[in-house]
Amino acid sequence: MFHMKVIKAKTHKEAGYLAADEFEKVMGKKADCVIGLATGSTPLPFYDELIQREKNRALSFSSVRTVNLDEYVGLEAEDPQSYRYYMQKNLFDHISIKKENILIPNGLEKDKETLCRKYENQIEVWGGIDIQLLGIGHNGHIGFNEPDDFFAVSTHEVKLTEKTRKANQRFFKSPNDVPKSAITVGIGTIMSAKKIVMMAVGGDKAEIIKKAFCGPVTPKIPASILQFHPNVTLICDEAAYMGFY
Ligand code: F6R
Repeated sequence: MFHMKVIKAKTHKEAGYLAADEFEKVMGKKADCVIGLATGSTPLPFYDELIQREKNRALSFSSVRTVNLDEYVGLEAEDPQSYRYYMQKNLFDHISIKKENILIPNGLEKDKETLCRKYENQIEVWGGIDIQLLGIGHNGHIGFNEPDDFFAVSTHEVKLTEKTRKANQRFFKSPNDVPKSAITVGIGTIMSAKKIVMMAVGGDKAEIIKKAFCGPVTPKIPASILQFHPNVTLICDEAAYMGFY
């Protein structure tokens, strides 16, 4: 059943603004809420907006806890291609969040099983994710949950598909520098979030938006599982929204 709320934004910037509205509502009700965050090109205006709103005192990050979706294996926090670096530059360095309230996988951790278990435990100790931001990959991935024969439940290490490595190549000096695997939260972790906000922008996302939300739920299109989540808001710009036609 399609019961997701779909909002059409005029521009990428407006999509970020509208996503920030959803987060502001949750943060306004619960100062120490747990928010799930994504990297990539899509959320950039969203992070700009959050920074601006804290400056204007519309919201505060001083007690907020954050959980990131994923991180590349083998990249250190200071590596400009790591997701930790992205988060520092695009959000954390500009807001009042406390270091101990940031959860993001350590890409250099050798014992990945323990890392994944501790990640899930920490989310549980914090009381679960109140609101989760998602982008969507061209193949329907969410976090780094790639198309597969099943839905991975919890945080795990995942081999990146050639398609995803190619899509992310633009950020690296040479194609060989793109990491071969990543740590990602599971589909179960994402589905346990109380509320989900997905942003999709650009004409290149229209086709996957149609497949994920107007077709069957299948692990071949991981984002399609969101059709079963009771509280999803999808914010598209005009180009991505064309997928519904
Ligand atoms: C990033 C993530 C990915 C991206 C997706 C879309 O933390 O989990 O699933 O959301 O690859 O990326 P962009 O926004 O660059 O199109």
